[in-house]
Amino acid sequence: MTGSWVNFLKFLRAAGLVVVASIALVTEAFSFDVHEMFEARCGRCHQHAGDLALKKLVIDNGVLRGRTSGNDIRAFLPNHFGYPNPEETTALYNMFVWQVEGGGRFKARCAICHIRARELARLNLVRDGDAVRGRYTGNDLSEFLSGHGRIDANEVDFFVRLLAQMAPTVDR
Ligand code: HEC
Ligand code: HEC
Repeated sequence: MTGSWVNFLKFLRAAGLVVVASIALVTEAFSFDVHEMFEARCGRCHQHAGDLALKKLVIDNGVLRGRTSGNDIRAFLPNHFGYPNPEETTALYNMFVWQVEGGGRFKARCAICHIRARELARLNLVRDGDAVRGRYTGNDLSEFLSGHGRIDANEVDFFVRLLAQMAPTVDR
């Protein structure tokens, strides 16, 4: 499997989405939304999961660790505030891994022109139901990215998902 496909699967897993049967064979579905869970149980002390992941966590030999503490995050979480159970710990861990990898790719491919993924999404994008579009341009994000920043089709999916989860919901 290619890296981006693996990342896409990790994202689906982290997002707890209900996915088609072929994907379900290689991923586990969670009975809760990990982003909502993070907000409810961790949000009082950590504003955004993405910021926490990018600032404080690193992947070291395939293990997600605290950048300064060196803690193995899988072992750390069950003993930390919010006390996630094993299923929640796995979902949080996968979400953080996806965010650290996503942030790294954004940095490598896009950051020369766009400083931070979160800023780009917050300032320039809105989410309207399942659609994500340019706040000022009205561009469909997926169509726009296909012709932008020299990215291939797999990467378009990857970056659409990365930015979509950071895009604010449209005001009505
Ligand atoms: C009562 C406040 C509080 C709550 C609630 C809380 N945390 Fe934390 N968390 C902290 C503090 C304080 C630190 C250490 C701060 C630092 O490193 O700057 C921390 C550190 C972390 C770290 C970095 C660990 C490391 O070794 O570097 C992770 C990951 C983390 N928290 C995840 C979570 C998750 C996931 C939840 C919810 C299940 C959660 N936290 C809930 C206060 C909280
Ligand atoms: C060489 C510089 C450059 C690189 C590299 C680049 N961009 Fe852009 N990007 C721009 C410029 C300039 C604009 C605004 C003008 C435009 O619409 O093309 C823009 C606009 C955008 C927008 C806003 C679209 C809208 O409709 O408002 C998004 C989203 C975006 N870029 C994502 C990305 C992503 C994701 C990457 C990395 C895969 C990337 N860009 C790489 C220069 C770049």
